[in-house]
Amino acid sequence: MAQQVVMKNTGLRGVAVADTKVSFIDGEKGILIYRGFRIEDLAEHSTFLEVAFLLLNGTLPTRKESSDFEAQVLKARPLPPYLLESLRHWPREARPMDVLQASVPMLAMAEPELAEESRGANVGMATRLIARIPAAVAAWHRIRQGLDPLPPDDSLSHAANFLWQLHGKKPDDEAAHDLDVCLILHADHTFNASTFACREVASTRAHMYAAVTAGIGALSGSLHGGANAEVMKMLMELENEKDIPGWVASRLQSGSRIMGMGHAVYKTMDPRAKYLKQMAQRLGKKTGQSRWHELSTEIEQTALKAFAEKGKTEIQPNVDFFSAPVYHIMGIPRDLMTPIFAISRVSGWCSHIIEEKFAEAQEKPQLYRPQAEYVGRYCGLMGCEWEPPEARTDA
Ligand SMILES: CC(C)(COP(=O)(O)OP(=O)(O)OC[C@H]1O[C@@H](n2cnc3c(N)ncnc32)[C@H](O)[C@@H]1OP(=O)(O)O)[C@@H](O)C(=O)NCCC(=O)NCCS
Repeated sequence: MAQQVVMKNTGLRGVAVADTKVSFIDGEKGILIYRGFRIEDLAEHSTFLEVAFLLLNGTLPTRKESSDFEAQVLKARPLPPYLLESLRHWPREARPMDVLQASVPMLAMAEPELAEESRGANVGMATRLIARIPAAVAAWHRIRQGLDPLPPDDSLSHAANFLWQLHGKKPDDEAAHDLDVCLILHADHTFNASTFACREVASTRAHMYAAVTAGIGALSGSLHGGANAEVMKMLMELENEKDIPGWVASRLQSGSRIMGMGHAVYKTMDPRAKYLKQMAQRLGKKTGQSRWHELSTEIEQTALKAFAEKGKTEIQPNVDFFSAPVYHIMGIPRDLMTPIFAISRVSGWCSHIIEEKFAEAQEKPQLYRPQAEYVGRYCGLMGCEWEPPEARTDA
């Protein structure tokens, strides 16, 4: 019998549960690598779709592979009419992450390759998800405002088309490029909570849509992808606050967290945050909204000082701290910030799901099945005595 390893209540920190070839993090040095390439290089030179191809297939695409992949994404962009019709009947106040999570199984319902368990079929499903998740987010945003969803524009890039379908206005090249870079930076991040959720579901041999649905649920939480919306809430609440040091001190004193800071893996500044901080500054200057970069930098510097005084120098800004002001300046509503994370991360989720399902034999993970230590009521192996309802007393 395998020896039991006890790692209770640690959130599996420091436990390697599988091999992966998709991405790598050096948490001490603040380095993130997708399939061998540093994210800074990818952000500088690639497009999001090129990075999605890299994550899914392991190599950067040739020109032909790139144009074939883009053509497949383009073809898959339109949402099935039954989903659009259904969205019109959903409560307008529904949270976009819930809407997205509910939409993915609806996409599965018309998926032609759902029953096919081959690598190729799964890459096909991944391609359709990468194409349709942005379309679903944009369609919901329009429907909840009483507007009609817009058809995709085949002349536009992935990011530009999303902004068009969202706002009904074609973005300029710089705005589209900035969003594309954000998508590159969020595309994968090893065994984060949502990716692990996807892989765990995939390990049961459930299909890709079921696994991605689980990932969306995990991403929505405020300790994970939901943190960007919480950061924006904080920035809006502090927009006119004069005493940031006082606010930071009282927040920490009360045991509350500063959203967008700290990370389970990075012990230094998240490399994505570095990039996004510069973007927030540049976009702020360009649009006359420098206040958001200034405010977030003031909170960051004050919090860093306060953490350092407590010997917690490892608590530094993560990806969500500066993505929030960036998205806000781009005109993205607060509750769409986490869905934008999903628009990008779906590429990483699908790559991990494929790895989970089709790893080479010696690296193939097994069905995840950890144990828990039972600390509940126990009356011996014969079990507690069952009593009829009338014999039970109210607590
Ligand atoms: C992401 C996060 C869960 C990672 O946490 P972690 O490094 O695994 O460690 P823990 O949650 O156990 O926290 C360790 C200590 O640092 C503190 N800490 C961590 N992040 C903090 C933050 N953002 N603000 C204040 N204190 C924080 C914890 O309170 C804890 O203090 P204690 O030891 O005195 O109890 C955590 O940093 C966090 O909650 N950050 C805010 C949410 C966020 O931005 N999430 C997005 C992540 S990309």
